Amino acid sequence: MRRAYVPYSKFPVGVAGLVDDGRIVSGCNVENAAYGVTLCAECGMVSALHLSGGGRLTAVSCVNASGDALMPCGRCRQLLWENGGPGCQVMTASGVRTMADLLPDAFDSNDLDHLAPPPPT
Ligand code: THU
Repeated sequence: MRRAYVPYSKFPVGVAGLVDDGRIVSGCNVENAAYGVTLCAECGMVSALHLSGGGRLTAVSCVNASGDALMPCGRCRQLLWENGGPGCQVMTASGVRTMADLLPDAFDSNDLDHLAPPPPT
């Protein structure tokens, strides 16, 4: 969180994730003059996850400048789902909750698998 690049919002975010092999990966938000391309802290953490060897996120804690639990935004819940799945535990202001709780009926690769094959050409 202290390394966040937040000249526009002045709202630093830090996130740490426990990987299923015991590693810890982390990230911070990185903003841009083109506001819409800002990278949330979770984006950096997921990149760090893959860069450092992959694996599955088993627990995640995202915090604001005060160190208080911060709810991942909608897009980042999708990122956490992809890389941690329904059982991944997330620290929230109301205690530890699972991703299944935070992103019910999530869209994921199972839905892609259910796509009908393309018609023959
Ligand atoms: N932010 C994150 O880094 N993660 C979230 O889940 C919510 C929002 C950042 C993006 C932006 O730099 C700042 O918080 C204000 O929205």
